[in-house]
Formats: sequence, structure tokens, C-alpha cells
Amino acid sequence: MKINQRNNKIESLYIHIPFCNNICTYCDFSKFIYRKDWVDKYLRSLKREFLSYNINKNEIKTIYFGGGTPSSLTCSQIRRLLLIFKDYLKIAKEITFEANPESLDVKKLKLLYSFGVNRLSLGVETFNPDILRELNRKHTNTQVKNIISKARDAGFKNINIDLIYGYKSQTLADVKKDVEEVIKLNVEHISYYSLLVEEHTKLYNQSYKPLDDDTLRNYFDYIHQVLKKNKYIHYEVSNFAKKGYKSEHNLTYWNNQQYYGIGLSASGYIGNVRYKNTNNLMKYFSNQYKYSEELVDIKDDLTYYLMLKLRLKQGFNKDEFKNKFHFDINTVEPLLNKLENHKYLHNTNNQISLTYSGMMILDDIVSELLLEIEKNYFI
Ligand SMILES: C[S@@+](CC[C@H](N)C(=O)[O-])C[C@H]1O[C@@H](n2cnc3c(N)ncnc32)[C@H](O)[C@@H]1O
Ligand code: SF4
Repeated sequence: MKINQRNNKIESLYIHIPFCNNICTYCDFSKFIYRKDWVDKYLRSLKREFLSYNINKNEIKTIYFGGGTPSSLTCSQIRRLLLIFKDYLKIAKEITFEANPESLDVKKLKLLYSFGVNRLSLGVETFNPDILRELNRKHTNTQVKNIISKARDAGFKNINIDLIYGYKSQTLADVKKDVEEVIKLNVEHISYYSLLVEEHTKLYNQSYKPLDDDTLRNYFDYIHQVLKKNKYIHYEVSNFAKKGYKSEHNLTYWNNQQYYGIGLSASGYIGNVRYKNTNNLMKYFSNQYKYSEELVDIKDDLTYYLMLKLRLKQGFNKDEFKNKFHFDINTVEPLLNKLENHKYLHNTNNQISLTYSGMMILDDIVSELLLEIEKNYFI
């Protein structure tokens, strides 16, 4: 398939590093146990793939090193990785590096900071040692605290913590403890996910049953309420940030904007094509990067637009919607009114956005909207 017309600038670049020191029981992301020779080979392929795009360095505003565990690489491998993107790192505004607390140290922190990395994203998941053990996570709470303090000393002013709720044995008291602990760490950003039991994971094979929907909702209501009280803005379904610290990179995805994705299993969106890279490491080593490409027609684009934009507290702009899809969203006013009466949606002169209750049933609302728009538009 031919990738054509890049509309507007592409301002974001995602780089996947598929190596981890150990494999967590819940994770179905593309990753392998760290092997030095594989990482060395991988860095060569990654560089070739990156150069094949010929990306204009002045356009890139956000860069995200995700995984896998980028911090599982040795210092000299991290240096080689960063050298590939050196010129881009000098110009981009937000550069995130995902890390596991136990595989970071002062040397790596200083190295990252010296290359321009200015945002750290730490996978913490929970502060409960028993649950951490069940998940096969290897860090301790003391390591989390220490590494944050060392990151601050190294100069990092923007730190995210990933947490998960909904473990089968988790009580509301456990959730309260996790929220209390994360608030104490005073980080700028918190991603709080509900546990997904994905196929091909150890949890799935153990027939792990997560908590029921009502309990999950009850827990998230608590998380939402306490984080809000502590000045974290709930700006996306699973994400909270202090003022001025939203994840600019992830906003690219949620705003349905284009981005480059490189590395094993990475996805990207260029022009009218959304693509996915192979998750076969041997193929990737032999420079066969692509796995699939999806041509995005106007109907697909509309689906992505609603699915992604309505994840955001600010929703979407009615004029932008009209210009993009040549359809006035007010045409489906009866449905908008119904959703508004149920307190699921805000409908102002300019914007459509979901309330907190609406966000909690996002998929249902998007399906209803799409059906109604289709009745009036596509047929
Ligand atoms: C894929 S990891 C990569 C970063 C790093 N290796 C780590 O573990 O933190 C990014 C985050 O995805 C989230 N995650 C992964 N699998 C998940 C699942 N099955 N359910 C909910 N969240 C998940 C975790 O919060 C994790 O921190
Ligand atoms: S959650 Fe992070 S550390 Fe655990 S297996 Fe997945 S990518 Fe690796």
C-alpha cells in the first residue's frame, strides 16, 4: 500500500524498546527477556528503520521511548539509542523515557537528562508488596521513593507513575493505600489503569478473574475523587495531571493526530494510513518492519475521531468536526439532548464533551453516536 499525502506536520515520534528484565504476569505488550546481543542487533535495525522515514527534525515536538522496558538497556546501549535520535532530542519539547524503578540508577538518569530526556514514566502498578509479587514485579517501595528523589536531583521536573487497580484480591482499603502513597510522592502525572486480563498472558492462563464492574467503578470513583482533591486534573479517561503537565505525546494520539511509530510492533499514523510493525523479532532484524497497513477512509476517521477525542475531558470542537467531516453534529440533536439529560454529556455552543459518568461508559456512547450519525450521513 502506498502511503500518500501527509496532511499537516507530523509532530510525534514513538520508539518501541521490546526488552525487559522479567516478564509481568499481566502484560501482553511486545517484549522479550533482555539479551545483550539482541539489543545490540535491535539498535542497528531501529536506526535503519528510523533513517528510512527521513523525518524532518524541526517538525518533531514529542518523542516517547516506550516498551518493554527502555531502562533495561545498559548505560552504553542507552547512549547508542539516544545517539540515533540526537538531533531530534535537541529540538523536541517533551521527551519521555519509560522505566522500571529497579533498572534505573543515577548514571542512567544523568545520561538521559544530558541528552534532553525531560519526562520519566515509572511503572509502579501498586504499593502492595504481596500484589507486586503476584504480578512478578521486582521493585520495592523504597526503590520507587529513592529513584524519584535521585531523578529530582538529576533535574527531572516531570515524572509520571503508572498504577493499576482491580486485582482480584484488592479491597477498597488497598486502593486507599495506593492512592495515599502515590500522592505522597508528589509526581506531576498519574496514569491509573484498570487491570485487563489479556490472552497470552500468565494471568489469562491461570483463569484469573478480575473484579466485577460495580466494584471497579466504586474503586475508580474513589481514585478520581481523591486525586481531584489533591489538584490532579482528570483530563483523560485513565490519566491525571497537575496543571501544565498533561502528556503532550499521548495527546497526539487522543487528538487523532498523525505520528511516526518505529520499532518492533509499533504502530503509526501517516497521511491516510494507520500501520502496525511486525512483532517478529527475527523479521525485524532482517529489516522487514511492516506487518499491516490500514487505509483510513472518512468513515474510519470519524470512528477514530469520536473514540479518541471523547476520551479527553475537553472533547471535540463542533466547527472542527464540521470542517473535517462536512457534517453538522447538531443534526443529531435529539440524541445529544438525551445524553445531556442523563448527565453523560456537555453540549455547549462550541464543544461536545463527556461528563465523568459519560467517560465511564465511553464505548456505549460512541456506538450510539456513530449509529445516529450514520443514519443521517452515510446512507
Ligand atoms: C507496557 S508497560 C511499559 C513500561 C514499563 N515496562 C513498565 O512496566 O512500567 C506500561 C504500562 O502499561 C500498563 N499495563 C500493561 N499491561 C496492562 C494490563 N494488562 N492491564 C492494565 N495495565 C497494563 C502498566 O501500568 C504499565 O506500567
Ligand atoms: S509491564 Fe513493563 S516490565 Fe512488565 S513485562 Fe510488560 S513491558 Fe515488561
